[in-house]
Amino acid sequence: MSNPATSTSNSTTSPSPVTSTALPQGSETVSRTVGRRTRKTTTSGALYDEARALIPGGCSSILRWSSYEPYPLYVKAADGPRLTDVDNNEYLDYLLCYGALINGHSHPKMVQALKEQAEKGSMFGTPTELEVKVARKFKQMVPTADMVIFGSNGTDATSNAIRIARAATGKDTVLKFEGHYHGQHDYAMISVEAPPSVAGLEDYPRPLPYSAGIPSLVLDTVIVSPWNNLRAFERIMKRHRNEVAAIIMEPIMSNSTVIPPGPDYLKSVKEIAAQNDALLIFDEVVTGFRVAPGGAQEMYGVTPDLSTWGKALGGGVPISAVAGKKEYMELIGPGKVSYGGTYFANPLVLAGALANLEILSANDNLAFKVIKDLTNRLMSELSRIADRSGQDICVQGVPGMFALTFTKLKKMINYRESLLIDWNKYKLLAQILLDHGVYLHPDNYERITVSTAHTEKDIELTLAAFEDAFRELRDRDN
Ligand SMILES: Cc1ncc(COP(=O)(O)O)c(C=O)c1O
Repeated sequence: MSNPATSTSNSTTSPSPVTSTALPQGSETVSRTVGRRTRKTTTSGALYDEARALIPGGCSSILRWSSYEPYPLYVKAADGPRLTDVDNNEYLDYLLCYGALINGHSHPKMVQALKEQAEKGSMFGTPTELEVKVARKFKQMVPTADMVIFGSNGTDATSNAIRIARAATGKDTVLKFEGHYHGQHDYAMISVEAPPSVAGLEDYPRPLPYSAGIPSLVLDTVIVSPWNNLRAFERIMKRHRNEVAAIIMEPIMSNSTVIPPGPDYLKSVKEIAAQNDALLIFDEVVTGFRVAPGGAQEMYGVTPDLSTWGKALGGGVPISAVAGKKEYMELIGPGKVSYGGTYFANPLVLAGALANLEILSANDNLAFKVIKDLTNRLMSELSRIADRSGQDICVQGVPGMFALTFTKLKKMINYRESLLIDWNKYKLLAQILLDHGVYLHPDNYERITVSTAHTEKDIELTLAAFEDAFRELRDRDN
């Protein structure tokens, strides 16, 4: 996740704050002059020019244009693991809509389910049987959750989970981890990509806004801990004894490269949360239905009080969920915790999500084995290819997703370490790969993800593309 407003890796200058909270000093950015296209992509360029006059930035999500130089590609169609841009170039897609497309694009079973539901009606504003079916399927795959409730995107899920935790504990403060991203609401947009020069001590980071316009009062209710540092976390919890309502984390950090938790880290955090009467929230928006059928909580055997889900839950349709222990989930209701949204759990997305989960869980969850094998192969072969071409890279990940970074570090364990990477080289790699028909997000903080639609043949093509790209990078270095 990289925001042009605060990123240390971006050439855009900070906007002037229009409300109470200014962006931190030190947000000034380094110049990026990487810009290279050899395929014909002029239709994208022309669309971008027109779009910027109509839509701020040129499209409706900052990440879809920031880091893309000289302009983002406009995509007109996609099928399986492939995207086709408006100039008819094809790419093997490893962004997969930030990991949402766990079964690739336009899976025939999902297309069928969506078509059938569209004919029956896309929105009723009433409960539906489909909602019960998706909840039942969710519980089968995530047995650690007692109950589940749906929303439209990850931001809905994390904001509601935090509200439930506050209602449950009667406290206000939220503890989040430096470098973790939980969506676009104010309580989440803190210390996501804090410039280290102003981010305070490594073991006691200063909460910093990740956007202009966040009220300073919000900053007073969010505290920040470094990831994977139990001692620091314990000290911070002691310092804020009796204040913390919710501890929210990505159980596998995946918005600042991919950084798994250390051994027993999640278990220890859970114990400390319980000692402090704080609810533990796992934000499984990225990990859910990607790393294992039951998410990171299944993979690590640690059950949080609440968890939030999105992306691969829908596999391409906009649905999210809050799930967790009955005693907390049942706080939702009139006169208690408010919850709702016009488009929440509409039958069209429910039909798509149900088909997606059925594909994932078929044949005893075979999809997760396929994805794990593809990820392992890509990770190990890429390390080997990079080594051969003399590149210092770190390939770090878990089943379904990984990060490839240019760095001398062999392993990264927290946000501050994740900053020690060569951003521009990665961006250049992503641009070279476009010429070879491979699509990655040029922002190195965005994960490389695979889907069940990728085949061994696709992996071969991808490895060959990387081999050529690494060679080109080496020639440029020399
Ligand atoms: C871990 C995590 N949580 C929450 C969100 C927010 O999800 P959405 O973009 O659907 O609002 C994201 C989005 O990337 C995420 O990565």
